[in-house]
Amino acid sequence: MKKIAVLGSTGSIGTQALEIIEKNREEYSVSALSCGRNIPLLQKQIDLFLPDMVSVKEKKDAEELQKKYPKIHVVYGEEGLIEAASCDCHMVLNALMGIKGLMPTYRAILAGKDIALANKETLVAGGQLIMEKAAEKGVRILPVDSEHSAVFQCMQGNEKKSLKRIILTGSGGPFRGFSTRQLYDVTKEQALAHPNWSMGQKITIDSATLMNKGLEVIEARWLFDVTLEKIDVVIHPQSIIHSMVEYEDNSVMAQMGLPDMKVPIAYALSWPKRRKNDFKSLDILREGANLTFESPDKNTFRCLSLAYEASKKGGTYPVVMNGANEVLVQKFLEGKIGFTQIQETIERVLCEHIPKYRLTPEIILEEDKKIRKKI
Ligand SMILES: NC(=O)c1ccc[n+]([C@@H]2O[C@H](COP(=O)([O-])OP(=O)(O)OC[C@H]3O[C@@H](n4cnc5c(N)ncnc54)[C@H](OP(=O)(O)O)[C@@H]3O)[C@@H](O)[C@H]2O)c1
Repeated sequence: MKKIAVLGSTGSIGTQALEIIEKNREEYSVSALSCGRNIPLLQKQIDLFLPDMVSVKEKKDAEELQKKYPKIHVVYGEEGLIEAASCDCHMVLNALMGIKGLMPTYRAILAGKDIALANKETLVAGGQLIMEKAAEKGVRILPVDSEHSAVFQCMQGNEKKSLKRIILTGSGGPFRGFSTRQLYDVTKEQALAHPNWSMGQKITIDSATLMNKGLEVIEARWLFDVTLEKIDVVIHPQSIIHSMVEYEDNSVMAQMGLPDMKVPIAYALSWPKRRKNDFKSLDILREGANLTFESPDKNTFRCLSLAYEASKKGGTYPVVMNGANEVLVQKFLEGKIGFTQIQETIERVLCEHIPKYRLTPEIILEEDKKIRKKI
């Protein structure tokens, strides 16, 4: 029985992971659950999975839950998340949104827990540090994101040294083909209408700006230990091929399937095994009939180039890019700024940034805090 701590259990990834766990009770149990403020949903999850520990954002919610569930250890805040990440479990699924996912990943590694990693910001901001610590502690980081899961699957049974390049695919988002002029007027509702995937709001906006693809490039660099020059991005609007790996013999391996996050989540939980499930399967004659590929428009969607640039410069550049992006996406969702101001502001922030290169989790969080205040 694999004991799993689910951080971000009320979110898009968290709820899908719990659906999988619920259908495979003989394989998995839940050690810890954590959420921000969605206490009604968390309570339903507590009643269903009976975890040993629960972590919430606010102290008052923790106190109320503790009264209601005296046998469960209820914790709160950043320290609570860290406690949940180091609880008695075999694996931590980090499905938190944002930089708050960094420290729980780091502390789970220190506690020797394998990690199913959905939280992008962990590797974007702290990639080198996290991967070095994971190697030192013998901890596995299993990708949950569909693109990285695809690359990971294409690498199974192949020699890493013969890898020529990674090709990350992306749908192009709802504004594929738009000019910069057209992007000026787009609304939040348009940006949230992703053509293929149903996801949380932040990542949906990141998909529309192509920042999501930029974050994935940085994650891939660290997860698979390859140089940026070996990572290409290709727009594939049908989202059937989730990414590819080309080898020295010019053979290209692709991982395909319907756009359903439950597939990569289930693989991260069960690796190296594959478990039977009741997800919808791909009808290759129908969904695979017209697969197309094109280059991303990096001039219009600047975030992708900015992510390559920030990662190439290294140090705290990706940290401030990520922090600025989180704040700007939130401002866009609140109607305070226009869509194109996200990329314009990030470009300015990167130009003005004075970097630090010797990173610790504390320095990363400090730089993140600073940039958030500045935006
Ligand atoms: N969704 C996808 O399909 C997808 C695909 C690939 C990668 N990812 C990545 O996976 C991560 C999670 O994405 P998501 O779409 O699942 O996000 P989401 O739907 O916004 O869920 C975020 C989760 O984090 C919790 N949370 C928020 N603030 C918190 C706090 N201060 N303390 C503790 N918990 C807190 C939320 O709780 P409340 O519900 O209480 O707010 C929720 O459970 C992101 O890094 C994203 O980029 C997502």
